[in-house]
Amino acid sequence: MLIDGINSWAPRLPVKRALIDFSSPNIAKEMHVGHLRSTIIGDTLARMLEFSHVECVIRRNHVGDWGTQFGMLITYLFEKFPNPDNVSEADIGDLQGESFYNPYIPGVLEKLDNLGLIEESDGARVIYVEGVDIPLIAVKRDGGYNYFTTDLASLWYRLNEEKLEWIVYVTDIGQQQHFDMLFKAYRRAGWLPKDENAYPKCTHIGFGLVLGEDGKRFRTRSSEVVRLVDLLDEAKRRCKIAILERDTTKDWSEEEIEKTSEAVGYGAVKYADLKINRLTNYTFNFDQMLNDKGNTAVYLLYAHARICSIIRKSGKDIEEVKRNGKIVLDHEDERALGLHLLQFPEVFEEACTNLLPNFLCEYLYNLAEIFTKKFYANCQVVGSPEETSRLLLCEATVTVMRHCFYLLGIEHVYRL
Ligand code: ARG
Repeated sequence: MLIDGINSWAPRLPVKRALIDFSSPNIAKEMHVGHLRSTIIGDTLARMLEFSHVECVIRRNHVGDWGTQFGMLITYLFEKFPNPDNVSEADIGDLQGESFYNPYIPGVLEKLDNLGLIEESDGARVIYVEGVDIPLIAVKRDGGYNYFTTDLASLWYRLNEEKLEWIVYVTDIGQQQHFDMLFKAYRRAGWLPKDENAYPKCTHIGFGLVLGEDGKRFRTRSSEVVRLVDLLDEAKRRCKIAILERDTTKDWSEEEIEKTSEAVGYGAVKYADLKINRLTNYTFNFDQMLNDKGNTAVYLLYAHARICSIIRKSGKDIEEVKRNGKIVLDHEDERALGLHLLQFPEVFEEACTNLLPNFLCEYLYNLAEIFTKKFYANCQVVGSPEETSRLLLCEATVTVMRHCFYLLGIEHVYRL
């Protein structure tokens, strides 16, 4: 079943249409490390829902494209492009950001008003929700709209126009109250079911901070915000150096070096983020995440490449072995590996139910450990009487590893 790589065993979520609102930087500003977690976690959750047979999973980058910063950017653009007719839509971006929902705001506010939810407070128009002292400000005193107003309108659009049954918002934990109040206002209006677990459902997926070595919010030496693109470039650069150092026979092509250092570098950054419970803060450390020993993507990608090379070295056509061979688990370390492989569906279901990708990482790391330290250390594969069965165990291991890599958004490599 697992060897065929089919996800028929995966849980079936009772949802056909879901949306993950993630990444969502403010485009007037540089995308920074704070958006790293949202992007990495959101992408993995989208993959997990797809794997669980949700027919349509929309990945929505709800970019901040209005407000003061954005006004400043527009002023700059008018200076740079005095004749805006010559600027194509592609030049200014192709995205369903905050401003998309502007036309829906008056209608949504009117509906909420008709339901008696909107009150006057100090000149502002507000909504009170259960269990929170401060109200949600729907319209500011000066008549302007804010972050809440857009989210009131975008959620209405998502439920009524896009007919979504599950909407997942991925942001830092600091925005928990914002989403709590938003969902409560919707429940008060009767636009979401009273039972939080019933569908249509909204979920806020919060995450902790990325910290620097000093234990404070991650910044550059000159205490500027760290740009995401610089981090990824640096991870790739370091991997490239490591590959070049090892490549003494110089048999790697330029293209292979580029592709592999990108897969390993980006994979390492993603894995370091996903392996810890998302609610926890974590310290960003290149040396740690690029270490080839320990719980890192580098170690896991190595393990994968090594198992692939064992299969290659046998000289057997693995498709043929899969068709005619049988797995026999006589040795205790064969059993340990077999049992762990069988646990994958269960672990995946748990990760999916709790929307916690770290469960998958822990499973993947243990798989690599059991393979290397138990099975491979004590059970000879190539040239042994049990070769067929053991090759099948190797193949099952790399297949499950690839499923995990895929779900975690990590590209696997065949040699490292
Ligand atoms: N742009 C916001 C930020 O950078 C995140 C938006 C999250 N999505 C939403 N629908 N509020 O913090």
